[in-house]
Amino acid sequence: MMKKECLEIVEKKCQSCKSCALGATRTNLVFSDGNAETARIVLIGEAPGETEDLEGRPFVGRAGQLLNEFLAEAGISREEDLYIINTVKCRPPENRVPTDLEKACCSKFLKAQIDIIKPQAIVLCGATALKSFVELDKKTTISKVRGQWMTVSVDGVDYRAMTIFHPSYLLRNHSMEEGSPRRLMQQDLAEIKNQILGDKVWSNNSQCACV
Ligand code: URA
Repeated sequence: MMKKECLEIVEKKCQSCKSCALGATRTNLVFSDGNAETARIVLIGEAPGETEDLEGRPFVGRAGQLLNEFLAEAGISREEDLYIINTVKCRPPENRVPTDLEKACCSKFLKAQIDIIKPQAIVLCGATALKSFVELDKKTTISKVRGQWMTVSVDGVDYRAMTIFHPSYLLRNHSMEEGSPRRLMQQDLAEIKNQILGDKVWSNNSQCACV
């Protein structure tokens, strides 16, 4: 089966999921965006916001538009290079941060998506995504860990991963000075482009072994 077909099976299950209460209040499921067959990177955000909930696609609101600008500038194609998902697939009311229970309920879908794509790297966009994979002590902030390559394990498989700032944070921080969050975002995306998308040829196996 193609990865796309395997993902459609997971998406169908996700559509009817009632493991947590978010499914009852959402407008649309926000399962993913990007090209499952060509994506080398899985980018994980926090949760759908209002625009995402209305359109059924991740990162299409203001934060998503800013993310698009940074991606384009770095030469990373949202349509070809990325498979974009969130830690939870349904919008939390009032855009609140998803609870640990909601994230736990949704993690089977998140893990299945990663397992099917088998990306060369995972990009964790903001603290909620990072904390879904790594336990943070109180002193560890996004500013300290962003930009560093690390290894995250998903169901026993190790992936290269990098944390970047969430674009919502950059919407509130406009400075382009050396060392500013926006400059660091440019730096981090350039590193990801260089390390992961540098080689033009990638023998991606688009077949998926799931049934
Ligand atoms: N913020 C997120 O984390 N994800 C989205 O899809 C949109 C905004």
